[in-house]
Amino acid sequence: MGILEKMRLDGKAALITGGARGIGKSLATALGEAGADLVIADLDLEEAEKTVSSLKEDGVRAIAVRADVTVSDDVITMVEAAVREFGELNVAFCNAGIVINKKAEEISLEEWRRVIDINLTGVFLTATAAGRQMIKQGKGGSIINTASMSAHIVNFPQPQCSYNASKAGVIQLTKSLAVEWADKNIRVNCISPGYMGTELLLASETLKPLIAAWESVTPMRRIGRPEELQALAVYLAGDASSFTTGSDFIVDGAFTCV
Ligand SMILES: NC(=O)c1ccc[n+]([C@@H]2O[C@H](COP(=O)([O-])OP(=O)(O)OC[C@H]3O[C@@H](n4cnc5c(N)ncnc54)[C@H](O)[C@@H]3O)[C@@H](O)[C@H]2O)c1
Repeated sequence: MGILEKMRLDGKAALITGGARGIGKSLATALGEAGADLVIADLDLEEAEKTVSSLKEDGVRAIAVRADVTVSDDVITMVEAAVREFGELNVAFCNAGIVINKKAEEISLEEWRRVIDINLTGVFLTATAAGRQMIKQGKGGSIINTASMSAHIVNFPQPQCSYNASKAGVIQLTKSLAVEWADKNIRVNCISPGYMGTELLLASETLKPLIAAWESVTPMRRIGRPEELQALAVYLAGDASSFTTGSDFIVDGAFTCV
């Protein structure tokens, strides 16, 4: 099989959390373009439905599901929806995440828990629900988690200790699942983006004013665009990455190199 053929995802069903907008939407679009059927899962059903409508206009088979990744029943329901609609689940992209920019001495326990719950426990719940389904199917699968360069460095000047800790946890969870499921050919990898121009940054009054400062210390002198992660997601989802598991891919315009 040629390399371009191995990058095709025809006949595979993929679930994307936080798929309604931003990185999730962009990478879902790429998986769909490569031939996958999609479950767009998000807390915001209205936005997820808009994303599904635009995917369908491009001829992609897709459904929207409302799911909060911190709620176990919701997560089980979204995996069941994938199986009901498409017969099985082959790819899970555990991507939903939030950031709270509060100083360590000021962040409340409730806010800390909210970030850890969505960013780390949400990945655990989604990846294990998908993993159980893939084990049952007996054909392997690919799980992709969204970590962050914040798992590797401490962002500055904005304070975000809960986010940084949650993302470091995502990398070690990814490696743990990769080792546990290697003999089942369920591969688990993560993507660690640098700053990307999504609502997470652009809609934040704390973060948006800092973009120029971040760009000045990024060797590529700019923040990234979600579509610059698309080829990596397609590679990780399919057979082209058959020996890639337990890996973390930093995509940050060399921010973490300096
Ligand atoms: N934008 C960046 O600079 C950047 C950099 C590194 C990592 N990331 C990570 O990428 C992922 C996507 O970020 P983004 O920039 O696209 O953010 P975004 O805010 O644009 O999109 C996040 C999506 O997740 C959904 N969501 C939030 N909480 C949820 C929950 N509990 N259950 C289900 N869905 C939920 C939101 O409704 C939204 O549609 C996050 O994990 C984020 O931490 C982003």
